[in-house]
Amino acid sequence: MTTDGHTVPRTGNGFIDATHRSLMDHVDSIRRECASGASRDAMVPHFSRFADEMRVHFDQEEVIIRAAGFARWEEHANHHAMLNQQFGRLIDYVCGCEVSPDFLCTVAGTLDAALCRHEIRHDGDYAALVRAASTAPEGAVLIAWDSAFDVGVGPLDAQHRQLAELMNELDAMSRQGAPVRESLDLLGMLHDHVHAHFAMEEGVLRRVAPSRFVSHRNHHRMLEGQFARIRQQVENGRLDSGVVVRGFLRFWLMDHVLGSDRPTFAEAAGATGR
Ligand SMILES: [Fe+2]
Ligand SMILES: [Fe+2]
Ligand SMILES: [Fe+2]
Ligand SMILES: [Fe+2]
Repeated sequence: MTTDGHTVPRTGNGFIDATHRSLMDHVDSIRRECASGASRDAMVPHFSRFADEMRVHFDQEEVIIRAAGFARWEEHANHHAMLNQQFGRLIDYVCGCEVSPDFLCTVAGTLDAALCRHEIRHDGDYAALVRAASTAPEGAVLIAWDSAFDVGVGPLDAQHRQLAELMNELDAMSRQGAPVRESLDLLGMLHDHVHAHFAMEEGVLRRVAPSRFVSHRNHHRMLEGQFARIRQQVENGRLDSGVVVRGFLRFWLMDHVLGSDRPTFAEAAGATGR
C-alpha cells in the first residue's frame, strides 16, 4: 500500500515485491519526517539514501526483466533513467538551496507520487511475464541447464553450470527450511565461485579478444557489486536467501551468460575465425 492509499500491484517476483515494499516504507518515513517539520540538513542525507536505494532497485529490476525476456526492457530502463535524473535534480536543488519545511514536504510528496506512478503503471507492464518466469513448477530445479547456454569455451561453460548448480542447491536448501547459517555459508561459497569465474573469464578474454576485455571487466565489476550488496542484505537479515536466489540471482546469472557472455564470445569467435 502506498502512502497515498494506492495499492502497488505485486509483480509475482518475491525479490522485486520486497524491494518495492522497502522503497515505499522509505518514502513513507521521509514524508512523515518532513511533515513533522524536520530541517533541510536532517533531510538531505535521507533523500540521498532514498535516491541510492531507488537507483539500485532500478538496476536490479532491469536485470530481471531483461533475463525474463521482457521485449520492452530498454523502454522501461529509459523510464528508470528519466526518474533517476528527475529525482537527482530535485535532491540537488534541496542540497544546494535554503528551502522551507513546506517545500521539503512538497519534494517528498513528488518523490512518492512519481515512484508510485511508475510502480503501478509501468512495472505492471512486465508483471505477467515476470510472474510466469519466477514461478518454478513444483519439483523442478530452479535453473535447468541447457547446452544452448554454452559460450563455447569448455572451462567457462563448466563454471557457468557450477554456478547454476550452487543456485539450485541454495533454492532447495531454502525450500527444505535449512538453518540460516548453512544458507549463508552456501551463499558465501557461491560468491567465491563468482569471483573465481570472473577472474578466469577475464583471463580468457584478454587472450582471445583484448579489445573487449576492458568493457567486459567493467561489466563484471558492476555484477560483483550487485552480488556483494545482495549477500550483505541477506547476512543483515533484510532479505531471505530463498527469495534472493529465486527472484534475483537466477536472473542475474542468466543475464550474465545469455545477455553478456554469449554475445561477447560469439563476436570474439567471429573476429578470430575460431
Ligand atoms: Fe520497480
Ligand atoms: Fe520499473
Ligand atoms: Fe561468465
Ligand atoms: Fe562475463
